[in-house]
Amino acid sequence: MKSRILVTGANGQLGKTIKEISSDFINSIDFVFVEKSELDITNSESLELYFQSNKFDYCINCAAYTNVDLAETEIKKAFDVNANAVKNLAVNCNTYNTVLIHVSTDYVFDGTKQSPYIETDITNPINVYGESKLLGEEHIRKHLDNYFIIRVSWLYSKFDKNFVKTIFNRLKEDEKLTIITSQRGTPTSCHDLSYFILFLITNAIKNFGTYHFSAKGETTWYGLAQYISKYLNKSTNVTPIKDYPTKAKRPFYSVMNNSKVEQLYGKPLTKWEECVDEVLENLPQE
Ligand SMILES: NC(=O)c1ccc[n+]([C@@H]2O[C@H](COP(=O)([O-])OP(=O)(O)OC[C@H]3O[C@@H](n4cnc5c(N)ncnc54)[C@H](OP(=O)(O)O)[C@@H]3O)[C@@H](O)[C@H]2O)c1
Repeated sequence: MKSRILVTGANGQLGKTIKEISSDFINSIDFVFVEKSELDITNSESLELYFQSNKFDYCINCAAYTNVDLAETEIKKAFDVNANAVKNLAVNCNTYNTVLIHVSTDYVFDGTKQSPYIETDITNPINVYGESKLLGEEHIRKHLDNYFIIRVSWLYSKFDKNFVKTIFNRLKEDEKLTIITSQRGTPTSCHDLSYFILFLITNAIKNFGTYHFSAKGETTWYGLAQYISKYLNKSTNVTPIKDYPTKAKRPFYSVMNNSKVEQLYGKPLTKWEECVDEVLENLPQE
């Protein structure tokens, strides 16, 4: 029998990516994609009604407040979407026997570690966005047993606005860019993440819990920009700078250890460079 899956926040870059590859799973999954205008997850009444009148085996929560700098001032909004609404999702998933697949972030860590973070490392967010996402995780653990919390880092895709696309487009216009070297992490492609999420579903994986998913390897934002500049033959357009002031603090080091995911997946994850290539090749070249 086909699994019935609800994808919330379907108009974001992860939601759009899952939608794009959903045709590969047509024989095993019935997808229901809902955007914010169709289902606002902060509206607890509509959420409960939605779960009451539809039966889902899984809910993939792609809905989130993701503006890290704006979250410093829009604190209530960030907590409403990333924490309070996630609690309601978890409660409904528990009541209606739905597995929740929730996406969280490397920003739950403070970045003071000097080796890749494992799932059980102590969390200590240093910005509002990270705090709100961590509280969302905690609500899920409290209210639900059947969940996957997947922490991801530096997400990008061919859709919407993200670092890879922005740098690519600005370099194409021959802009000169100054990019920071102070933060180390791993760029992660929505494409690879989506396949991992759907692997969990199609294989009916029951090893519920928290996972660190990213590509393999690590770099800085400068390293990533430089990589993109080489692809466009514009290496001289990118200059490194140590740091740059932003409203929200960000962890200096947020590389995640992927051993738990690789063990479950039964294969190594892809190097970040290969994943970036795949997206760059799919962006308009002219
Ligand atoms: N982007 C990154 O670098 C990054 C890094 C680590 C983790 N993550 C996590 O990865 C997940 C996916 O991120 P993403 O980059 O795909 O985010 P995104 O592109 O910003 O998409 C988020 C989607 O959620 C929707 N949304 C916001 N509030 C909502 C609500 N109340 N009800 C329903 N939908 C709502 C947004 O709609 P509107 O645009 O209309 O508000 C948007 O379509 C998120 O959980 C994020 O925290 C992202």
